[in-house]
Amino acid sequence: MKALILSGGKGTRLRPLTYTGAKQLVPVANKPILWYGIESIVAAGITDIGIIISPETGEEVKTKTGSGEAFGARITYICQEQPAGLAHAVKIARSFLGDSPFVMYLGDNLIQDELRHFIDRFKAQQMDALILLRAVENPTAFGVAEINDRGQVLRLVEKPKHPPSNLALVGLYFFSHQIHSAIERIQPSARGELEITDAIQALIQSGQSVEAEQIRGWWLDTGKKDDLLEANRIVLDTCLTISIQGEVDARSQVIGRVEIGSGSQVRNCTIRGPVVIGKNCHLENCFIGPYSSIADEVTLIDTDLEHSVILQGAKIEGIHQRIVDSVVGQRAHLKAAPQRPKALRFMIGDDCQIEVV
Ligand code: G1P
Repeated sequence: MKALILSGGKGTRLRPLTYTGAKQLVPVANKPILWYGIESIVAAGITDIGIIISPETGEEVKTKTGSGEAFGARITYICQEQPAGLAHAVKIARSFLGDSPFVMYLGDNLIQDELRHFIDRFKAQQMDALILLRAVENPTAFGVAEINDRGQVLRLVEKPKHPPSNLALVGLYFFSHQIHSAIERIQPSARGELEITDAIQALIQSGQSVEAEQIRGWWLDTGKKDDLLEANRIVLDTCLTISIQGEVDARSQVIGRVEIGSGSQVRNCTIRGPVVIGKNCHLENCFIGPYSSIADEVTLIDTDLEHSVILQGAKIEGIHQRIVDSVVGQRAHLKAAPQRPKALRFMIGDDCQIEVV
């Protein structure tokens, strides 16, 4: 079995972070989202992995992720020139996939369940497609399945205005080679893309075996800021272990599950986990509260924050109010005046959101 991970697209819903990078490389608990997918595929015993990249962000994905050796896999990169849809991505990966069955994983999705169980079921029952479903509150934002009492899939629709159920399609699919001829039979959707949802619907129509399973663990589609914070919270809650490699001085207090990378210095701070701090950071006179991820080379001075994600090289100094529910981009600099400010001075990039609350 092979795997195909989709890591193209423009990431418009995560702007401004995605102006300078791929959305699949935005970190969750200091690790690119994409890497969680690779790791779970390898954990299921699949090592032949194709990654779809875009011309805009492909080089960055390639440079950071490499040949696959670090994951115990062999990665083949396939460039999709236009964001012409998920089924289009499968089409251009045909020579990589051959007639092999494969798992397709959307690179901005994270799921808790292990893949092995789904793969075993898919193989044992010789399915043409196994799709995963999850009840959601906003089905209009997803592909949606209509199923009968026995869990059989009757119909699938992409982003329906009037959803037939609240069961969204999770961005993880298992396919036999039959998907390729189904893709040949579909037309681009109203948004101009070849939809994988339509290709699976074509399999159903031609009487091929399409099964669904509702996942039990969490599923996160990290497309937006609040989803990203939620993914961060859940991963810190479930996966973080204690490891202190940096230097923590005697005036600091580190409480609960906290990871501090090598070369980082923590002076006169209180850090209350779960918190992950990357390498070569400098923290001085700070309170870092639960569910915070601080990437490498970040400087935080006289700062009080919680439930936030601070990306590489950012610098925050002297903001005495607590910073909450925030995402701060790479190399961003936030600084307060020494006294209570009379005015605020900003240089804010396109699509940023600042709330003075
Ligand atoms: C895609 C699929 C959709 C699925 C979703 C899961 O949507 O088209 O069916 O429910 O991923 O993340 P997109 O993220 O491209 O809008």
